[in-house]
Amino acid sequence: MPDIDVLGVESEPLRAFAYLSTPVVPFSDDALNDLLRSARRFNAARDVTGKLVVLEDDDGVTRFAQWIEGPARALALCVERIESDTRHADLQVIRSGPVAARRFPGWDMAIHPASATTFDGVVAQAVAEV
Ligand SMILES: Cc1cc2nc3c(=O)[nH]c(=O)nc-3n(C[C@H](O)[C@H](O)[C@H](O)COP(=O)(O)O)c2cc1C
Repeated sequence: MPDIDVLGVESEPLRAFAYLSTPVVPFSDDALNDLLRSARRFNAARDVTGKLVVLEDDDGVTRFAQWIEGPARALALCVERIESDTRHADLQVIRSGPVAARRFPGWDMAIHPASATTFDGVVAQAVAEV
């Protein structure tokens, strides 16, 4: 017999969104920490988890890659915030759709620094099938 969702709180389908982007303003450590704080607060309150991969050289951040996952509606709100943030551009979506399970269940949002040699590998790993 199918479960009946008496309280109407049946969990929403889980989705993930992953993209690459390029910062258009310098991201100091402070700016990065501010971004992380804001992202964490917003994501954690909505059960959205994920990981931000940051490629840095001597001049600062040169590329972002991010994976976020969570209930469909909450995730859409996060995506909207990310897309409308003018501090980065050239947003290239690399994954958007339903997922069976979370990749980062314990992370509200964390920064994972990558070097030029590890960035592509980390991104590839992040978007590999869950
Ligand atoms: C690389 C990058 C990653 C971001 N990740 C998230 C995120 O995971 N969740 C979120 O809600 N907003 C995210 N944002 C958007 C900003 O955190 C947010 O819109 C901005 O800091 C404004 O926050 P405020 O409303 O607290 O001022 C991201 C922005 C950038 C540039």
